[in-house]
Amino acid sequence: MPDRGNPRPSYESRSSGRESAHIKKSQSRLTSTLRSSATEDGSAATGRRRFKFPGHARKRTEAFHKPKCRTRVCALVLLTVVLPLLSGCQKPGETTAVPASPAKSLTIFYTCDTRGHIDPCGCSSGMAGGIARRKTFLEAHPSGPHLLVDAGDVTAGPRAWELLEFEYLLKGYEQMGYDAINAGHREASLGLDRLLGLKGQHKGLVSANLANEKGEPVLAPYRIITLPDGATVGITGILDDKVSAAEIGKGLKILPPHDALARILPELKRRAGFIVLLAFADEERMKELAERFYEINVIVGGKVLQPSATPLVVNRTVITYMTDKGKAVGCLELKGDPGGRFNHTNSIVMMKEEFKDDPAMTKLIAEYKARLKELDFLPAAEKDDEEGLTLITAERSKDANRYVGAESCQSCHPQAYKMWAGSKHARAFHTLEEKGYDTNPRCLECHTIGYRASDGFLNARLTPQLKNVSCESCHGRGDHHVKYYAGENRQLKDFKFRKVNCLGCHNPDNSAKFEYASYWEKINHGRD
Ligand code: HEC
Ligand code: HEC
Ligand code: HEC
Ligand code: HEC
Repeated sequence: MPDRGNPRPSYESRSSGRESAHIKKSQSRLTSTLRSSATEDGSAATGRRRFKFPGHARKRTEAFHKPKCRTRVCALVLLTVVLPLLSGCQKPGETTAVPASPAKSLTIFYTCDTRGHIDPCGCSSGMAGGIARRKTFLEAHPSGPHLLVDAGDVTAGPRAWELLEFEYLLKGYEQMGYDAINAGHREASLGLDRLLGLKGQHKGLVSANLANEKGEPVLAPYRIITLPDGATVGITGILDDKVSAAEIGKGLKILPPHDALARILPELKRRAGFIVLLAFADEERMKELAERFYEINVIVGGKVLQPSATPLVVNRTVITYMTDKGKAVGCLELKGDPGGRFNHTNSIVMMKEEFKDDPAMTKLIAEYKARLKELDFLPAAEKDDEEGLTLITAERSKDANRYVGAESCQSCHPQAYKMWAGSKHARAFHTLEEKGYDTNPRCLECHTIGYRASDGFLNARLTPQLKNVSCESCHGRGDHHVKYYAGENRQLKDFKFRKVNCLGCHNPDNSAKFEYASYWEKINHGRD
């Protein structure tokens, strides 16, 4: 089926069709909160992490204990695995300084595929996600060594408003204390200049294989984190090179991950006792890397369709992954036993409304909304003309069919108009105004008419008649039809409306309860 009825950008569709329903209910225990402070990248100097005041942390944990148990949609597994302990390197009496691995426990909090979703849209009740809840969740843990990492695709893409959103996400990531953020394919889509422009927003951006045209790394190839017990963790990242050239922005290229890791790992192994690889790649590729590089202790991904309930163990590497628009945070707990092995427990915690919004993140989001209003991004015309007349450009022909708004239909279709005017579709824009998102392009896509077509909605001032979801959101452009029946242009008699497609907007994410018959009942109308 052609994509034309679907108002979402095609980029979005990559991971549609899979939902978090797959994430099984379960429960989990979490440990550890220690805000990170100092770290080092491939070249910089070492630092120490600050302890959080434990009493404070414990109090908070109690406060969140109840909701957490109820909401955790989790996958949970307890496996005993032999992790490479590296204790062989710490034989008493050995003289050379060898990096120590975390002795007792390490918790890795991980995210991936936030895809710009700084805030849940609230289209359906009970939606998960957003950084305001994420921060509350992350802070609700007792102290203990931990890492906080993101495996890639934090941003949605390279459009101007998406870059602004990315900038605010990175500010949020900074405040949450992320230790490392891997570049995914969407970061790569930004191109060299824009990526360099944003690089300063977060010191934790890493990639071992995202390179400029000369093949030189663009971000830090890795970071070294020193845990409170003095153990060192090296975090590096790769993104899969199996990707079409069109998805990679100007000035960037992706080196083969194997080559990049083969170059970096020996050095990393000398400097760190424990190695975490952030891999924006599919499960097959993650397994290949684990098979090939025994040095890697944990792989966090990825470019996958659903989060991993049960981590895989390949060789000595634990592989786990996360996805789906930042709706959940993964938590991989590694606990050392006296035999020098690590047990691991993995849980996936949905960021539901039981996690209250963190005030600092709420403030950041309010700032983002204010910036969106101030900049008032007008959409660049990007959509193919649905009628196949022209690619939408400024030179769109004067005779081409166009959007005219519901008022133009009222005179001949009074019953349909009345029904529509009383429906929620007629106040879809007002809904955005109430949320302060009436200039957020992500929302305008579905809450207005023809957004991103040159004759579609621009903003409330320039195109007030195209606010809201109305006749033409469903039937398509109406100008030719109106001109024909008003007798203005009898040449246009062959004009046909398109077939209505509710699912372009009422998709499983934004309208979880959608069911055609009962929804149609609420907006039922016809020819009279
Ligand atoms: C893919 C299309 C789509 C996008 C993008 C979208 N919405 Fe929606 N929104 C819908 C649909 C469809 C509904 C109706 C859901 C239902 O009732 O089943 C809805 C409903 C809502 C509601 C509930 C309204 C009510 O009457 O209770 C809010 C609030 C909302 N959207 C806000 C937003 C915001 C804010 C954004 C951007 C961050 C956004 N939406 C982006 C399609 C979308
Ligand atoms: C000047 C009168 C007039 C106006 C204005 C008008 N229509 Fe119609 N419309 C008609 C007539 C007459 C028919 C019935 C045609 C038939 O029975 O074959 C019709 C049929 C339709 C149909 C069903 C037939 C089809 O082609 O699918 C749709 C849908 C429709 N109109 C939508 C609209 C929309 C949307 C607007 C506003 C953009 C609009 N109309 C404005 C006169 C009008
Ligand atoms: C262009 C996007 C779009 C299309 C196409 C669309 N809708 Fe909607 N729909 C929305 C949005 C946005 C809302 C939420 C409006 C609000 O309350 O802000 C909504 C809300 C609704 C509601 C109200 C839900 C409630 O809770 O009462 C019904 C019913 C509905 N749509 C039915 C349909 C049906 C049936 C179709 C297909 C024939 C359809 N819609 C096509 C965007 C769309
Ligand atoms: C949410 C989507 C939606 C909106 C908004 C909407 N319609 Fe419809 N309309 C439909 C669907 C679905 C049908 C059923 C026939 C079909 O599948 O084309 C229909 C049927 C019609 C028909 C009869 C078509 C026929 O072949 O018998 C007319 C006329 C019509 N709509 C006009 C309008 C007008 C005028 C408006 C705005 C005032 C409007 N519609 C708003 C979805 C919508």
